[in-house]
Amino acid sequence: MGFGRGKVILLGEHAVVHGYPAIAVGIERGVHAEAQPAKHDRLRLSPWGLELEPASDGTEPLERAFAAVLESYEERPPLEVSATVELPAGAGLGCSAAIGVAVLDAIDEAIGRRRTRAELAEAALVWERVFHGNPSGVDNTMSAVGGVALFRRGEPLVPLRSNKPLHLVIGYSGESSSTKEMVASVRRQLEEDRARVTQTFDGIETLVRNAKLAIEAGDHVALGQLLDLNHTLLSSMMLCTTKLDAMCQAAREAGALGAKITGAGGGGCMFALAAKREEAARLKDVLGEGAFVAEVSA
Ligand code: MEV
Repeated sequence: MGFGRGKVILLGEHAVVHGYPAIAVGIERGVHAEAQPAKHDRLRLSPWGLELEPASDGTEPLERAFAAVLESYEERPPLEVSATVELPAGAGLGCSAAIGVAVLDAIDEAIGRRRTRAELAEAALVWERVFHGNPSGVDNTMSAVGGVALFRRGEPLVPLRSNKPLHLVIGYSGESSSTKEMVASVRRQLEEDRARVTQTFDGIETLVRNAKLAIEAGDHVALGQLLDLNHTLLSSMMLCTTKLDAMCQAAREAGALGAKITGAGGGGCMFALAAKREEAARLKDVLGEGAFVAEVSA
C-alpha cells in the first residue's frame, strides 16, 4: 500500500518559497493508494468519487499531474491506481502533495521499484508543480519523509530531535483556498513593496530559528509565543481570514500555548499547540467540526 502523509507547517510558510527556512511536521492522516496492472491507465480518488485518465494537455490539473507522474517511469504496464484521501483539499494540510506521494509509492510497489522516501519526495515534485507552479518542496518532502524537520529549499532536510512530543490540534475553517493564488499574492506584494515583505520574511526566519531551539529544548511555552508571532506576520501579508483569526483567538483563550494559520492561508486550517494530551482533547472541542488532534514526536 502506498502512503503519503499530510503535513502541518509549524512556522515559515510562504517565506519558504523564497528560500527561507520553515519547520514542518508529517501527520498520520494522509492518502493511501494501491496500483494494479490494468487495460488502461486510470486514477480513482475516494471518497470524492472521482475517476480520471492521464492527459498531459487535460483541462483538469489532476489529469495533468497523473500524466506527469506516469511519464516519469521509463517502463511499466498500464496501471489502475486507487487512492483514499483522508485530508480536506485546499486546506493547507498538503493534500495534493500527499496524493502525489501516495500514487508514486503505490506505482513503485506495483512494479517493484525501490527508492528511499527522500527520493520519493523528489519524484513527487513533478506532481506538485502541476498544482502550484513554483512549490518550495516542503509539502512533498514532509509527506514522504514525516517527522519534525527544518526544511530549506534545495538543501537536505534537517530532522529535529526532542524528548517531548508536540500536541497539535488542527482546526478547519471550512473555507478552501488556492495555494497557487496565495503564493502569487505574496509574490505581488514582494514586487510592489520589497523592503516591507523582505523585512517580514527576515522576521519569520528569526522565529523559525528560535522555534528550532525551543523544540529541541522541549520549551513549548516559548514555541507557542513564536507561533502567535508568526501568525501576526502572516496576517500582515493578508493571508488570514476573519474565521481563522477567531479560531486562533478562541484556542488561545481556551488555554492553547499558541495558535496560527498553517499552509497557504486565505482559508483552510489553523492549528493550536496544547501543553499536553488532555488539553489537546479539550481544545479539539473548542475548534469544532473537522478539528482533530495530531501528536507528533520529534
Ligand atoms: C503550502 O503548504 C506552503 C507554501 O509555503 C507554499 C510552498 O511552500 O510551496 C504556502
